[in-house]
Amino acid sequence: MAPLLSVRDLVTVFESKTRPVQAVDSVSFEIREGEVFGLVGESGCGKSATCRSILRLFAGAPARITGGTIEFAGRDLTCLSEAEMTRVRGREIAMVFQDPMTSLNPTMRVGDQIAEGLIRHESIGRRAARLEAIELLKQVGVPSAEQRLDSWPHEFSGGMRQRVLIAIALACRPKLLIADEPTTALDVTIQDQILKLILRLREQYGMSVLLVTHDLGVVAQTCDRVATMYAGRIVETAETPSLFARPLHPYTIALLNSLPGGKKRSEPLQPIGGAPPNLADPPPGCRFHPRCSIAVEACRSTAPALLPVDAPHRVACLRRGAEPS
Ligand SMILES: Nc1ncnc2c1ncn2[C@@H]1O[C@H](COP(=O)(O)OP(=O)(O)O)[C@@H](O)[C@H]1O
Ligand SMILES: [Mg+2]
Repeated sequence: MAPLLSVRDLVTVFESKTRPVQAVDSVSFEIREGEVFGLVGESGCGKSATCRSILRLFAGAPARITGGTIEFAGRDLTCLSEAEMTRVRGREIAMVFQDPMTSLNPTMRVGDQIAEGLIRHESIGRRAARLEAIELLKQVGVPSAEQRLDSWPHEFSGGMRQRVLIAIALACRPKLLIADEPTTALDVTIQDQILKLILRLREQYGMSVLLVTHDLGVVAQTCDRVATMYAGRIVETAETPSLFARPLHPYTIALLNSLPGGKKRSEPLQPIGGAPPNLADPPPGCRFHPRCSIAVEACRSTAPALLPVDAPHRVACLRRGAEPS
Protein backbone atom coordinates (compact mmCIF):
# COMPACT_ATOMS: atom_id res chain seq x y z
CA MET A 1 0.00 0.00 0.00
CA ALA A 2 1.30 3.47 -0.90
CA PRO A 3 2.19 5.59 2.13
CA LEU A 4 -0.15 8.46 3.04
CA LEU A 5 2.72 10.96 3.03
CA SER A 6 5.96 10.59 1.15
CA VAL A 7 8.56 13.33 1.50
CA ARG A 8 11.44 12.96 -0.96
CA ASP A 9 14.68 14.98 -1.00
CA LEU A 10 12.99 18.00 0.52
CA VAL A 11 15.07 21.18 0.62
CA THR A 12 13.78 24.30 2.37
CA VAL A 13 15.68 27.55 2.50
CA PHE A 14 15.23 30.63 4.71
CA GLU A 15 16.40 33.78 2.97
CA SER A 16 18.38 36.06 5.25
CA LYS A 17 20.29 39.32 4.80
CA THR A 18 23.65 37.60 4.92
CA ARG A 19 23.30 34.17 3.34
CA PRO A 20 20.47 31.71 2.81
CA VAL A 21 19.94 29.10 5.51
CA GLN A 22 19.19 25.59 4.31
CA ALA A 23 17.07 24.48 7.27
CA VAL A 24 15.88 21.26 5.58
CA ASP A 25 18.54 19.50 3.53
CA SER A 26 17.46 16.55 1.35
CA VAL A 27 15.04 15.12 3.87
CA SER A 28 13.12 11.96 2.92
CA PHE A 29 10.63 9.94 4.97
CA GLU A 30 7.26 8.25 4.67
CA ILE A 31 4.25 8.03 6.93
CA ARG A 32 1.79 5.19 6.48
CA GLU A 33 -1.90 5.26 7.18
CA GLY A 34 -2.64 5.14 10.91
CA GLU A 35 1.03 5.41 11.83
CA VAL A 36 2.66 7.70 14.40
CA PHE A 37 5.99 8.88 13.02
CA GLY A 38 8.41 10.76 15.26
CA LEU A 39 10.92 13.41 14.26
CA VAL A 40 13.43 13.93 17.05
CA GLY A 41 16.43 16.22 17.52
CA GLU A 42 17.66 19.21 19.50
CA SER A 43 16.37 22.70 18.97
CA GLY A 44 17.47 24.25 15.66
CA CYS A 45 17.78 20.99 13.72
CA GLY A 46 15.02 21.80 11.21
CA LYS A 47 12.10 19.82 12.63
CA SER A 48 9.62 22.69 12.54
CA ALA A 49 10.85 23.81 9.14
CA THR A 50 10.12 20.28 7.85
CA CYS A 51 6.57 20.38 9.28
CA ARG A 52 5.89 23.86 7.99
CA SER A 53 7.14 22.86 4.53
CA ILE A 54 4.49 20.13 4.33
CA LEU A 55 1.73 22.70 4.85
CA ARG A 56 3.68 25.55 3.26
CA LEU A 57 2.89 27.53 6.41
CA PHE A 58 5.94 29.61 7.22
CA ALA A 59 4.19 32.18 9.42
CA GLY A 60 5.59 35.14 7.51
CA ALA A 61 9.18 33.90 7.55
CA PRO A 62 11.02 34.26 4.21
CA ALA A 63 11.11 30.53 3.50
CA ARG A 64 10.95 28.63 0.24
CA ILE A 65 10.90 24.98 -0.80
CA THR A 66 13.69 24.75 -3.37
CA GLY A 67 13.76 21.02 -4.02
CA GLY A 68 12.05 17.68 -3.58
CA THR A 69 8.49 16.43 -3.54
CA ILE A 70 5.82 16.03 -0.85
CA GLU A 71 3.34 13.41 -2.00
CA PHE A 72 0.19 13.29 0.07
CA ALA A 73 -2.70 10.96 -0.78
CA GLY A 74 -1.48 10.74 -4.36
CA ARG A 75 -0.72 14.41 -5.08
CA ASP A 76 2.50 16.39 -4.89
CA LEU A 77 1.73 19.23 -2.47
CA THR A 78 4.65 21.28 -3.78
CA CYS A 79 2.78 21.62 -7.10
CA LEU A 80 -0.52 22.83 -5.61
CA SER A 81 -1.64 26.44 -5.94
CA GLU A 82 -2.11 28.53 -2.81
CA ALA A 83 -5.91 28.13 -3.14
CA GLU A 84 -5.56 24.35 -3.35
CA MET A 85 -3.22 24.35 -0.33
CA THR A 86 -5.83 26.27 1.68
CA ARG A 87 -8.21 23.36 1.16
CA VAL A 88 -5.60 20.83 2.25
CA ARG A 89 -4.77 22.78 5.43
CA GLY A 90 -7.09 21.95 8.27
CA ARG A 91 -9.26 19.68 6.20
CA GLU A 92 -6.79 16.96 5.18
CA ILE A 93 -3.72 17.88 7.20
CA ALA A 94 -3.99 19.72 10.51
CA MET A 95 -1.21 21.06 12.68
CA VAL A 96 -0.87 21.62 16.42
CA PHE A 97 1.95 23.88 17.57
CA GLN A 98 4.09 23.99 20.68
CA ASP A 99 2.68 27.03 22.40
CA PRO A 100 -1.00 26.66 23.27
CA MET A 101 -1.19 30.29 24.40
CA THR A 102 -0.18 32.05 21.21
CA SER A 103 -1.89 29.55 18.92
CA LEU A 104 -5.41 30.41 20.11
CA ASN A 105 -7.04 33.71 19.25
CA PRO A 106 -7.37 35.53 22.61
CA THR A 107 -10.27 37.68 21.37
CA MET A 108 -12.50 34.82 20.27
CA ARG A 109 -14.53 32.43 22.41
CA VAL A 110 -13.22 28.85 22.40
CA GLY A 111 -16.38 27.35 20.89
CA ASP A 112 -16.34 29.83 18.01
CA GLN A 113 -12.73 28.96 17.23
CA ILE A 114 -13.62 25.27 16.98
CA ALA A 115 -16.77 25.98 14.97
CA GLU A 116 -14.95 28.31 12.55
CA GLY A 117 -13.11 25.52 10.70
CA LEU A 118 -16.27 23.41 10.49
CA ILE A 119 -18.28 26.27 9.01
CA ARG A 120 -15.52 27.12 6.54
CA HIS A 121 -14.57 23.63 5.39
CA GLU A 122 -17.66 21.52 5.92
CA SER A 123 -20.26 24.16 5.00
CA ILE A 124 -22.47 23.35 7.97
CA GLY A 125 -24.57 25.94 9.83
CA ARG A 126 -23.65 27.72 13.05
CA ARG A 127 -25.97 25.70 15.27
CA ALA A 128 -24.73 22.34 13.95
CA ALA A 129 -21.12 23.55 14.22
CA ARG A 130 -21.68 24.47 17.89
CA LEU A 131 -23.11 21.03 18.65
CA GLU A 132 -20.13 19.45 16.90
CA ALA A 133 -17.79 21.71 18.90
CA ILE A 134 -19.31 20.39 22.15
CA GLU A 135 -18.78 16.83 20.91
CA LEU A 136 -15.16 17.61 20.05
CA LEU A 137 -14.47 19.21 23.44
CA LYS A 138 -15.86 16.06 25.10
CA GLN A 139 -13.67 13.91 22.83
CA VAL A 140 -10.51 15.68 23.92
CA GLY A 141 -11.50 15.49 27.58
CA VAL A 142 -12.53 19.06 28.39
CA PRO A 143 -14.93 18.75 31.35
CA SER A 144 -18.35 20.51 31.28
CA ALA A 145 -18.00 21.00 27.53
CA GLU A 146 -21.37 22.76 27.10
CA GLN A 147 -20.42 25.47 29.60
CA ARG A 148 -16.81 25.80 28.44
CA LEU A 149 -17.88 26.51 24.86
CA ASP A 150 -18.38 30.20 25.63
CA SER A 151 -15.21 30.61 27.67
CA TRP A 152 -12.22 32.67 26.54
CA PRO A 153 -8.79 31.08 25.99
CA HIS A 154 -7.32 32.85 29.06
CA GLU A 155 -9.85 31.03 31.24
CA PHE A 156 -8.20 27.70 30.33
CA SER A 157 -5.01 26.16 31.76
CA GLY A 158 -2.11 25.32 29.41
CA GLY A 159 -3.11 21.66 29.21
CA MET A 160 -6.76 22.54 28.52
CA ARG A 161 -5.71 25.03 25.83
CA GLN A 162 -3.68 22.30 24.13
CA ARG A 163 -6.79 20.06 24.24
CA VAL A 164 -8.77 22.86 22.58
CA LEU A 165 -6.12 23.15 19.86
CA ILE A 166 -6.33 19.42 19.27
CA ALA A 167 -10.14 19.72 19.07
CA ILE A 168 -9.72 22.45 16.43
CA ALA A 169 -7.22 20.29 14.55
CA LEU A 170 -9.57 17.29 14.64
CA ALA A 171 -12.70 19.21 13.66
CA CYS A 172 -12.47 18.30 9.98
CA ARG A 173 -11.20 14.76 10.59
CA PRO A 174 -7.78 15.23 8.98
CA LYS A 175 -5.96 12.23 7.54
CA LEU A 176 -2.71 13.54 9.00
CA LEU A 177 -2.11 15.42 12.24
CA ILE A 178 1.19 17.25 12.51
CA ALA A 179 1.96 17.84 16.18
CA ASP A 180 5.03 20.07 16.60
CA GLU A 181 6.26 19.67 20.20
CA PRO A 182 2.64 19.58 21.41
CA THR A 183 3.60 18.91 25.02
CA THR A 184 6.87 20.81 25.43
CA ALA A 185 5.26 23.74 27.25
CA LEU A 186 3.32 21.45 29.61
CA ASP A 187 4.25 19.75 32.85
CA VAL A 188 4.94 16.03 32.86
CA THR A 189 1.54 14.78 34.05
CA ILE A 190 -0.33 16.88 31.51
CA GLN A 191 2.18 15.90 28.82
CA ASP A 192 1.37 12.27 29.50
CA GLN A 193 -2.38 12.90 29.23
CA ILE A 194 -2.03 14.77 25.93
CA LEU A 195 0.14 12.04 24.39
CA LYS A 196 -2.39 9.39 25.48
CA LEU A 197 -5.13 11.53 23.97
CA ILE A 198 -3.31 11.73 20.63
CA LEU A 199 -2.86 7.93 20.63
CA ARG A 200 -6.53 7.34 21.47
CA LEU A 201 -7.65 9.69 18.69
CA ARG A 202 -5.34 7.94 16.25
CA GLU A 203 -7.06 4.64 17.12
CA GLN A 204 -10.50 6.17 16.89
CA TYR A 205 -10.10 8.07 13.63
CA GLY A 206 -7.36 6.01 12.00
CA MET A 207 -5.40 9.19 11.31
CA SER A 208 -1.65 9.32 10.88
CA VAL A 209 0.48 11.52 13.13
CA LEU A 210 3.78 13.31 12.55
CA LEU A 211 5.01 13.96 16.07
CA VAL A 212 7.91 16.34 16.57
CA THR A 213 9.81 16.28 19.83
CA HIS A 214 13.27 16.87 21.25
CA ASP A 215 12.58 14.11 23.80
CA LEU A 216 13.28 10.47 22.99
CA GLY A 217 11.18 9.55 26.03
CA VAL A 218 8.14 10.91 24.18
CA VAL A 219 9.14 8.88 21.10
CA ALA A 220 9.35 5.68 23.15
CA GLN A 221 5.88 6.30 24.51
CA THR A 222 4.11 7.13 21.25
CA CYS A 223 5.85 6.48 17.95
CA ASP A 224 5.78 3.46 15.64
CA ARG A 225 8.75 4.70 13.66
CA VAL A 226 11.18 7.54 14.19
CA ALA A 227 13.79 9.64 12.43
CA THR A 228 16.62 11.46 14.19
CA MET A 229 17.30 14.84 12.63
CA TYR A 230 20.55 16.76 12.98
CA ALA A 231 21.49 20.06 11.35
CA GLY A 232 18.80 19.85 8.68
CA ARG A 233 19.35 16.19 7.78
CA ILE A 234 17.94 12.85 8.83
CA VAL A 235 20.84 10.88 10.32
CA GLU A 236 19.02 7.74 11.45
CA THR A 237 15.60 6.19 10.97
CA ALA A 238 14.12 2.98 12.31
CA GLU A 239 11.14 1.31 13.86
CA THR A 240 11.03 2.63 17.42
CA PRO A 241 11.89 -0.66 19.20
CA SER A 242 14.88 -1.12 16.89
CA LEU A 243 16.14 2.43 17.52
CA PHE A 244 16.06 1.91 21.27
CA ALA A 245 17.45 -1.63 21.17
CA ARG A 246 20.29 -0.74 18.84
CA PRO A 247 20.83 2.99 18.27
CA LEU A 248 23.52 3.38 15.61
CA HIS A 249 24.20 7.07 15.03
CA PRO A 250 26.48 8.69 17.63
CA TYR A 251 23.96 11.56 17.79
CA THR A 252 21.04 9.24 18.58
CA ILE A 253 23.23 7.50 21.17
CA ALA A 254 24.13 10.87 22.70
CA LEU A 255 20.43 11.85 22.83
CA LEU A 256 19.68 8.55 24.58
CA ASN A 257 22.49 9.02 27.08
CA SER A 258 21.20 12.46 27.99
CA LEU A 259 17.76 11.02 28.74
CA PRO A 260 16.83 10.29 32.37
CA GLY A 261 16.28 6.52 32.46
CA GLY A 262 18.01 6.16 29.10
CA LYS A 263 21.06 4.63 30.73
CA LYS A 264 21.62 2.08 33.42
CA ARG A 265 21.02 3.67 36.80
CA SER A 266 24.64 3.30 37.88
CA GLU A 267 25.87 5.42 34.98
CA PRO A 268 25.60 9.20 35.24
CA LEU A 269 23.56 11.18 32.72
CA GLN A 270 25.70 12.81 30.06
CA PRO A 271 24.43 15.98 28.49
CA ILE A 272 25.62 16.32 24.89
CA GLY A 273 28.54 18.74 24.77
CA GLY A 274 28.31 21.72 22.42
CA ALA A 275 25.33 22.73 20.32
CA PRO A 276 24.02 22.07 16.80
CA PRO A 277 25.80 24.19 14.17
CA ASN A 278 24.57 27.44 12.74
CA LEU A 279 22.89 26.32 9.53
CA ALA A 280 24.08 29.44 7.71
CA ASP A 281 27.55 27.92 7.92
CA PRO A 282 27.42 24.18 8.66
CA PRO A 283 30.61 22.15 9.07
CA PRO A 284 31.74 20.11 6.03
CA GLY A 285 31.49 16.34 5.93
CA CYS A 286 29.32 14.83 8.63
CA ARG A 287 27.70 17.78 10.37
CA PHE A 288 27.91 16.01 13.72
CA HIS A 289 31.69 15.42 13.54
CA PRO A 290 32.69 18.39 15.76
CA ARG A 291 30.65 16.88 18.63
CA CYS A 292 31.30 13.23 17.89
CA SER A 293 33.54 11.13 20.15
CA ILE A 294 34.28 8.53 17.46
CA ALA A 295 34.84 10.82 14.46
CA VAL A 296 37.83 10.07 12.25
CA GLU A 297 39.53 12.20 9.59
CA ALA A 298 37.15 11.07 6.81
CA CYS A 299 34.14 12.35 8.84
CA ARG A 300 35.46 15.92 8.40
CA SER A 301 35.24 15.76 4.62
CA THR A 302 32.75 13.08 3.58
CA ALA A 303 29.02 13.55 4.13
CA PRO A 304 27.71 10.06 4.86
CA ALA A 305 24.63 8.78 3.00
CA LEU A 306 21.65 7.34 4.87
CA LEU A 307 22.19 3.61 4.28
CA PRO A 308 20.26 0.55 5.43
CA VAL A 309 21.86 -1.50 8.19
CA ASP A 310 19.13 -4.03 8.50
CA ALA A 311 16.08 -3.42 6.33
CA PRO A 312 14.10 -0.46 7.71
CA HIS A 313 16.88 0.66 10.07
CA ARG A 314 19.06 3.19 8.25
CA VAL A 315 21.91 5.38 9.45
CA ALA A 316 24.15 8.07 7.98
CA CYS A 317 27.50 7.48 9.66
CA LEU A 318 30.87 6.41 8.27
CA ARG A 319 31.68 4.89 11.65
CA ARG A 320 28.47 2.92 12.12
CA GLY A 321 29.05 0.01 14.38
CA ALA A 322 32.44 1.31 15.59
CA GLU A 323 33.11 1.26 19.33
CA PRO A 324 34.06 4.54 21.06
CA SER A 325 37.85 4.72 21.31
N1 LIG B 1 12.11 32.60 10.57
C1 LIG B 1 13.35 32.18 10.27
N2 LIG B 1 14.21 32.95 9.59
C2 LIG B 1 15.46 32.52 9.29
N3 LIG B 1 15.94 31.30 9.64
C3 LIG B 1 15.12 30.49 10.33
C4 LIG B 1 13.79 30.87 10.69
N4 LIG B 1 13.24 29.84 11.38
C5 LIG B 1 14.17 28.87 11.43
N5 LIG B 1 15.31 29.27 10.81
C6 LIG B 1 16.55 28.46 10.65
O1 LIG B 1 16.21 27.11 10.50
C7 LIG B 1 16.86 26.31 11.46
C8 LIG B 1 15.92 25.23 11.88
O2 LIG B 1 14.87 25.79 12.64
P1 LIG B 1 13.63 24.94 13.13
O3 LIG B 1 13.05 24.19 11.99
O4 LIG B 1 12.74 25.87 13.84
O5 LIG B 1 14.32 23.93 14.14
P2 LIG B 1 13.66 22.99 15.25
O6 LIG B 1 12.19 22.99 15.05
O7 LIG B 1 14.30 21.66 15.04
O8 LIG B 1 14.04 23.57 16.57
C9 LIG B 1 17.26 27.26 12.58
O9 LIG B 1 18.44 26.83 13.19
C10 LIG B 1 17.47 28.56 11.84
O10 LIG B 1 18.79 28.61 11.35
MG1 LIG C 1 10.67 23.55 16.38
